[in-house]
Amino acid sequence: MKCKITGKLIQPFMSFGKMPIANGFIEKKNFPDEFFFEMEVGFNEDLSLFQLNDHPKPEKMFNENYPFFTGSSEYMKDHFKKYADFVKKYIKTNSKIIEIGSNDGTFLKNFDNQSSQIIGFEPSKNVADVSKKNGIPTLNCFFNKENVKNLKDYLGKTDLVCASNVICHIPDLNNLIESVDLLLSSNGTFIFEEPYLGSMFKKVSYDQIYDEHIYMFSVSSISKIFQKFNFKLVEAIPQNTHGGSMRYIIKRNNNETIQNIQKLLTIENNERINSLESCIKFKKNCEISKKKIINKIKSLKESGKNICGYAATSKSTTVLNYCNINTNHIDYICDTTKEKVGKFSPGMHIPITDMEHFQNNATDCVYLFAWNHKDEILNKEKKFKGEWFSHVEL
Ligand code: TMP
Repeated sequence: MKCKITGKLIQPFMSFGKMPIANGFIEKKNFPDEFFFEMEVGFNEDLSLFQLNDHPKPEKMFNENYPFFTGSSEYMKDHFKKYADFVKKYIKTNSKIIEIGSNDGTFLKNFDNQSSQIIGFEPSKNVADVSKKNGIPTLNCFFNKENVKNLKDYLGKTDLVCASNVICHIPDLNNLIESVDLLLSSNGTFIFEEPYLGSMFKKVSYDQIYDEHIYMFSVSSISKIFQKFNFKLVEAIPQNTHGGSMRYIIKRNNNETIQNIQKLLTIENNERINSLESCIKFKKNCEISKKKIINKIKSLKESGKNICGYAATSKSTTVLNYCNINTNHIDYICDTTKEKVGKFSPGMHIPITDMEHFQNNATDCVYLFAWNHKDEILNKEKKFKGEWFSHVEL
């Protein structure tokens, strides 16, 4: 793959094999036409950027059938309230605020529509509709220069552009940053949070890698990328969400001094997070993790135990397909999202059921795919007395 920013070719160092669309929950009649792509990853040494080698077109993933709603997790709702409180120090009365990938409006709901002028960009129609119903001014389109230019009143006048778990979804980082540049006022701030490369390496949570997650960022990569566009990473704050994320605060180059960035860069350097060598180690760790989970499932089945999955996450698509875990191993996966229930998991075609099915047909063991929501889930499933397990330490 050619890096869009430096123009250089990046060689993949690992393949997870053929992968379907991570959120492509599918009906039986569509099995024969299911889309697959070769999921390879590479490391862009110029930018210290971990990235997919190839990915499906965004329209294939973010459309009227996107089955993910931010509001489906109480923990995330609370997180977004706190996130909104944090960013409020960067705005004043009547500030213009834009969220990229506003989903169902869970984040923007925390702003007062009267005292600030908010707009959400959300390309997936079904979630954008929910956001509009929630009273959030929402544009059902991709965030890019073409669409941003239509917002004449916001050009050069927006005090805050925000995003979470979205920037890593956008293939063309040039276009993204140039769009932010068009919008931000001279003292404006761009704040976003994304799954953190260092946490993925540490936890061997390779399921963070799927079609939507084109990039896995670090303080080093974000700092290098934004420097190229005359922006400065002024602060970075680690987050617990998604098994370990980082919040990045970006300003125009002539703004503020850097706060904790040097310290974080030194840590990344010492831990060799920014090296191809760590990627190769990660590859070996993925292979070990794969063997371990296959053996675990095999031994549970051999001892006559039955297994179901809990939460049909996008991440689970990577694990199931990479490890070839199918209906011989897992009877069903329960999930709260009505758009997924009644369909089948992408690639491995495990049936997705509602939570009632889990209450009435609990298996001996449960594979927790939403391991990053462990506390919230174990707390509400105290009645289940069997074994919980996952490929990531619980
Ligand atoms: P994600 O990991 O792709 O963001 O998806 C999380 C999925 O987990 C989503 O389909 C909803 C599901 N889920 C449950 O079924 N029960 C829960 O308690 C939580 C927190 C999530």
